[in-house]
Amino acid sequence: MVLHSQQIWRSATVEDLEGKTFPAKPLFTMSLKYLQQHLLDALSMSKIGTRETDIRYIITVPAIWGIAAKQFMREAAIEAGIDGARLKLALEPEAAAVCCEALGHTLAGEKFMVVDIGGGTADISVNEKQSDGSLKNIHAPSGGPWGGIYVDANFIAFMTEVFGTMAITALQSKDMYDYFDMIRDFEVKKRKFEFDSQTDITFRIPVVLKEISEEQFHQSLSDRLRSLKYGKRVFTRGRDKLGVDSSIMQSWFTDPVSKTVDHISSVLKEKRMKDVGLIVLVGGFAESPYVQQRIKEELPGMKLTVPGEAGLAVLKGAVMFGHKHDIISSRVMDYTYGIHVWAYYDEKIHPAERKVYQDGAWIVDNLFDIFVRANEDVPVDSKVSHRTIPSSQSSRISIYRTKNREPYFTTDPGCEKLGHIDKNSNRDIPLKEQITKTTFMFGDTELHIWCENVKTGEVETLTLDLSK
Ligand SMILES: Nc1ncnc2c1ncn2[C@@H]1O[C@H](COP(=O)(O)OP(=O)(O)OP(=O)(O)O)[C@@H](O)[C@H]1O
Ligand SMILES: [Mg+2]
Repeated sequence: MVLHSQQIWRSATVEDLEGKTFPAKPLFTMSLKYLQQHLLDALSMSKIGTRETDIRYIITVPAIWGIAAKQFMREAAIEAGIDGARLKLALEPEAAAVCCEALGHTLAGEKFMVVDIGGGTADISVNEKQSDGSLKNIHAPSGGPWGGIYVDANFIAFMTEVFGTMAITALQSKDMYDYFDMIRDFEVKKRKFEFDSQTDITFRIPVVLKEISEEQFHQSLSDRLRSLKYGKRVFTRGRDKLGVDSSIMQSWFTDPVSKTVDHISSVLKEKRMKDVGLIVLVGGFAESPYVQQRIKEELPGMKLTVPGEAGLAVLKGAVMFGHKHDIISSRVMDYTYGIHVWAYYDEKIHPAERKVYQDGAWIVDNLFDIFVRANEDVPVDSKVSHRTIPSSQSSRISIYRTKNREPYFTTDPGCEKLGHIDKNSNRDIPLKEQITKTTFMFGDTELHIWCENVKTGEVETLTLDLSK
């Protein structure tokens, strides 16, 4: 969520339970290294003679992640010692669709929506099965922070209200085991919870939590409960249990799930989505009976497929994708991409107020040279090249993107510079012969850009510089 919610720079930090910050990059690197080691240990135990170099690594990322977040993940993996040449990022909804197919849910000829509800995010994408067996993405991925952890967050907010901030903070920092016990206990009840459940729910409360709270408020827990807004809906049970009416548990689920359902409906209402009749529901939170019931009830007319072990669908699909990554044939662009160019002023096409006099000629600068437009359908690994003539010995190709489908200038509102490629021309050849061919390779999970000097054959590739 840290990677999704902000523009992610290499200096990003994350907070632990107590609010202490730590740089995100080494944390990701350590986690990936741990997972890799865990895998290698498991492989050597089974003695099947696999070498590390035989492994291709697939890291799945939410489809809504921007390029910077993907770049961040790739760098963290490489720092963890994973060979970049054997590493590929896979988009999670695509992996999920691949898994469903393999489990025998026929998606042939269908336009279907994949809804992946995990811990952090609900990730939504719409695909169509091609006659050649490949998948085509027909709606740019979307979603938001509406995963299962928001139910946990609501529970913690409630516990904080009941026991006081001080007691909860003390539990988190001094009695972490008790804290995690409480969370685990909640997790079990969360998983069983049904939409129309009428039964009270009972939570075990750590003894220290109750003690600190009673000491701080100078009253017993039962007395304190009477002073809260919940009335009889929250009560003590025995010495160490808290009873909660089902309507309260309901309220913790309502917000994240409603946001997901509303978002799905609004995507389905779009005209070009009218043939979509099937929702494939995956992700850990999708295993929740509450979530399934609400989606079923609030989206009548839609067929719903939930694969067994929905929480593992992305993982299984990623493995299959790793063995056959041409399963996905095309993707819809999330942005308009292009480069910054200048041109000689032409009164028929350029606004007069933008012309400037430079080196003996009227020119127009900051023009957005569009390579591909937002919402355009782009085959995987398709290349788009444009040619430009360098105007000086050393020149710079700047890469831009915008949500606008018809940007005119790179200075228009909404345009964002992603990076640049610097190149030097050969001193012994006239500049006008040294045409620069800039190529974007689209449709992959990452954006690849390179510039070739057509005369000399020299190539510079882009390393996005996102550290600010
Ligand atoms: N049976 C279940 N019922 C309800 N919630 C569940 C169930 N199983 C798992 N969850 C919840 O699903 C979430 C984890 O899902 P998942 O493993 O798909 O997340 P993730 O892929 O790590 O997160 P993200 O996709 O947001 O990056 C947790 O919030 C967990 O409590
Ligand atoms: Mg997930």
